Amino acid sequence: MMDAPACVTDAAERARNAKVLAERLSDHVVVAGKLVRAISRASFPVENPASGEIIGSAPRCGAEDVAHAVAAASSAFPSWAAMPGRQRSAKLLEVASRLEAEAESIACLSSLETGNAIATQTRGEARTMVDIFRFFAGMANEAKGKTVPLTDRRFLFTKRVPLGVVGAIIPWNAPLMQTASKLGPALATGNTVVLKTAEQAPLAVMRIFEILQEALPPGVANLISGFGEEAGRPLTEHPAVRKVTFTGSSAVGAQIMHYAADKIVPVTAELGGKNPNIIMPDADLDLAVAGIVQGMRLFRQGQSCTAGARIFIHTAVYREVLGQVVSEFGKGRMGNPLDEATQIGSLISAEQLARVERYVAMARGTPGARIVIGGERPNDAVLRQGHFYLPTLIEGVPASSPVCRDEIFGPVATVTPWADFDSVIKEANDSRYGLAAVLWTRDLARAMDFIDRIEAGFVQVNQFSVAEAGIEYGGVKLSGIGRELSPESMVEHFTWPKTVIINYATPGL
Ligand code: NAI
Ligand code: MG
Repeated sequence: MMDAPACVTDAAERARNAKVLAERLSDHVVVAGKLVRAISRASFPVENPASGEIIGSAPRCGAEDVAHAVAAASSAFPSWAAMPGRQRSAKLLEVASRLEAEAESIACLSSLETGNAIATQTRGEARTMVDIFRFFAGMANEAKGKTVPLTDRRFLFTKRVPLGVVGAIIPWNAPLMQTASKLGPALATGNTVVLKTAEQAPLAVMRIFEILQEALPPGVANLISGFGEEAGRPLTEHPAVRKVTFTGSSAVGAQIMHYAADKIVPVTAELGGKNPNIIMPDADLDLAVAGIVQGMRLFRQGQSCTAGARIFIHTAVYREVLGQVVSEFGKGRMGNPLDEATQIGSLISAEQLARVERYVAMARGTPGARIVIGGERPNDAVLRQGHFYLPTLIEGVPASSPVCRDEIFGPVATVTPWADFDSVIKEANDSRYGLAAVLWTRDLARAMDFIDRIEAGFVQVNQFSVAEAGIEYGGVKLSGIGRELSPESMVEHFTWPKTVIINYATPGL
């Protein structure tokens, strides 16, 4: 056993260590088992969004780096696919243990490049990452086929076969968890992977891939970085890539489905959301208030596809609940993401901040709309160097406004009073998205009614939790296609079925 690393509690010390790591990893890709320089000499800067400081750079990969990584994944595929499931399982368990040992430094690096707070987001996310790898390690023998009873001396069975090279593309909002969600099921079932990181957050995932190489055969898990059109598109279009798994915006999800359509390749897409959070008058209001705050994912600055960004509160309790939510907002500590005391970090980028400001300005210009709280950047001079934005509630915005309809992806929610259950369900469903939906009530019949009628892939009653290993996750409508994190979705999305018929009526057999 190694000695446990000394506990680093000081934010400055954490930042120093993470910067050393960032510098070492800069301008690399992970291909064929090694951290190597990319073929492309072009790179882009990686920013600490909480301070505006440049902490490193990453390769701006193009088709050549894609081809290099896909070739490595293609040559690793036959023996990885042929390896007994129990052996793949052992290797993935080793991956989980090695990542667990490095979880704190991965979390710190992720905080440095995403602005997500270590105490409330990245440390827990790193734990979830480990848990997802461990869960799917245990699933490596579960890609089972079926038998079909035939009575005419024929034996019919199906086998589940790995697809080949999987192309994975992830965003920046929860990159540790998203990496595990893509790799776990793909690798457990015998596929090899080329993953492209988001341009805003490439470094912590690079550290993860570096660690993966200690346990996996070379070429099984490869990593590139770069922009969507330049690196993501050639990856999805590459003829040897037999499956694409994507998390990000609905617009890019649609584009990726178009690219994949030309080669008839399946796509799993986890896309946006504009999720309703509905409070009934009979709800446990303390729980509901906490659920509104947690649902808004304020500890990830609202940058979550699951965020409950449309809050519907019954008129009988509207002022009371709103007042309590506002006072909860006042308690959230915003600051340096690497500081243990910080709960709310910064948005990912100047672009994302501008997007949030654009929607809030739109709300301000809407007759009848009112900013209940927030609606601006914090006043603090240090925080102003980063992309911080105060948690914001807006009321009185008509349902037809883009503020109510578009995914803002920031710490902003609309609040709307309601009186009629049928109408609030109708309004909740009046969305192009259908990812998460939550109801707070003690009325079981109402809850069942809600469950029946709501158009969402991930429905909760009296809680607003995040996805976790083993709990199937995914959306309908513009929120995506396919599911993640469950054993069934692993088999469905990362293997193909082969139907086999043995005719044993054959004379002499
Ligand atoms: P995006 O969807 O453009 O980027 C996500 C990933 O897709 C990145 O790795 C990017 O490089 C890649 N990508 C972009 N264009 C591509 C293309 N043509 N081919 C292949 N890959 C491509 O998201 P972005 O621009 O970072 O954020 C914009 C909005 O998208 C956010 O404000 C939010 O509303 C939504 N979003 C939703 C996420 C979710 O978890 N559902 C995550 C990130 C963004
Ligand atoms: Mg984009």
